[in-house]
Amino acid sequence: MELLLDHRLKFGESIQAFADLLFVIDDYGSVLDCKFGDASIPFDSCEQLQHKKVRDVLPTDLGGKLDHFISEARKNGRSSSFEFPLNIGEHEFWFDGCFLPASDSNTILSARNITKYKKTEFRMQRQLKRLSALRSIDLAIASGLDLNLLLSILLDRIIETLRVDAATVLLLDHEMNLLNFASGKGFHTNILQHTSLKPGQGYAGRAVLERRMVSIPDLTKNATEFDRSPLFPRERFVVYYGVPLVAKGRVLGVLEIFHRSPLRADEDWLDFLNIISGQTAIAIDSAMMFKDLQKSNFELSLAYNATIDAWSRTLDLRDRETEGHTRRVTDLTIRFAAMNGVKDADLIHIRRGSTLHDIGKVAIPDHILFKPGPLTHEEWETMRQHPKYAVDLLSPIKYLEPAMEIPHWHHERWDGTGYPDRLGNAEIPYSARIFALADVYDALTSNRPYRNAWSKKDAIQYIENQSGKHFDPRLVPDFLNLVNANGY
Ligand code: C2E
Ligand code: SIN
Ligand code: SIN
Ligand code: FE
Ligand code: FE
Repeated sequence: MELLLDHRLKFGESIQAFADLLFVIDDYGSVLDCKFGDASIPFDSCEQLQHKKVRDVLPTDLGGKLDHFISEARKNGRSSSFEFPLNIGEHEFWFDGCFLPASDSNTILSARNITKYKKTEFRMQRQLKRLSALRSIDLAIASGLDLNLLLSILLDRIIETLRVDAATVLLLDHEMNLLNFASGKGFHTNILQHTSLKPGQGYAGRAVLERRMVSIPDLTKNATEFDRSPLFPRERFVVYYGVPLVAKGRVLGVLEIFHRSPLRADEDWLDFLNIISGQTAIAIDSAMMFKDLQKSNFELSLAYNATIDAWSRTLDLRDRETEGHTRRVTDLTIRFAAMNGVKDADLIHIRRGSTLHDIGKVAIPDHILFKPGPLTHEEWETMRQHPKYAVDLLSPIKYLEPAMEIPHWHHERWDGTGYPDRLGNAEIPYSARIFALADVYDALTSNRPYRNAWSKKDAIQYIENQSGKHFDPRLVPDFLNLVNANGY
């Protein structure tokens, strides 16, 4: 006691006047005395700290530096300052402290209570983290991800930012009127993966029916909705939240939050739970819309293809000789195009164009189209109009725009002597150059009203001979390899 009085005299009121916390530490690092200058700090606990080693009182990550700080203080009259938390009574306080040399063997730790600033700092850090979570959810929404992947990303961010152990999303199947498990994170078991609830049933069902958050702060007290699930206790969950996911006024499902220890849900936390639920609902809504859109696009595309096939069959019905020609030419063209690295997205247009290539012949009178012999000059004039007729017929149809190259230019020739536009070389669209090879090969090897089918050998020889005249010479060898290897 003598010694302590000595300190107080030595450092006087001045230190106490601005320090909220004072420790007097002896040579061995034991706390000899402590004093709280801040009346808001529960002073009682000071006794509990006395005689403890200061390294046990302060957080462990400071432990290693204490010797350094103390020797620094003894050398310079003051150590650098450092922040540390201290649990006093029920509460956590934060201090900003430094060591000061006292007598020969003793050192004083003088600290200011910075709890208020620290809390603000933590709060800002949390807000920042939450904002960045919302931002990443926005990005996930905008990127048009598949729903399952989206939910998986969302749940990761929700668990991370709300600092909870597990979360699920249940989606409402509006047709069956059932709430089904869609995605979950943080579970030890798969107990909830088979969850399927009617609105009103279970906590999640209640959240949907009543359109409000359901919270169970202690699942271990009293009976709960989860008692029906015998494996549920294995998860050791204590806290439950179920938040309805509402977008555009429609309930899409429920976000469920689980935590394995009690949760102090302050206003901030609850606000954020609501914000992130709203964001999750928007994400689900847009992912579902995207899926529906893709589905209807797919269905539309099937409808288009059926229409195109129907048109091309009307042509076949009229011109029995060419029956099968369209299908064979289309198959051969697609095969050759794919072999040449044409992408799937372009192949669909090539398929449509190929199917419709001679649709313009519907405008050619029977006496020309079915003439058993060679055509007169005038007849040829008419016949050479069939690509133009195709353009007239099909150009009002927007979705066929990218498919028009073949109907329009399948009779152009590499040397520029073809029709209707006398295009030459690379002026002729690639798809039309590919198609011309398949078309002529199949025409030659088929019967026509004006002649019988040629042999395969003659057809191949003809194409070889027309390389650089009718056909793109760079395509001819590969095309003939394909035809030879596949028995066309
Ligand atoms: P298509 O019968 O489908 O023939 C398509 C293309 O294959 C022809 O385009 C031509 O490049 C080639 N091709 C077909 N058969 C022969 C042939 O016997 N010899 C040669 N060297 N090439 C042949 P092209 O010539 O522009 O003819 C377009 C369409 O005009 C033909 O379609 C066919 O419907 C019609 N056509 C052509 N020549 C005659 C003909 O002599 N009599 C009649 N009635 N129609 C003809
Ligand atoms: C839930 O509310 O998520 C499930 C409750 C139950 O299993 O009945
Ligand atoms: C057309 O001009 O007929 C269609 C446009 C195109 O094929 O590029
Ligand atoms: Fe043609
Ligand atoms: Fe043809």
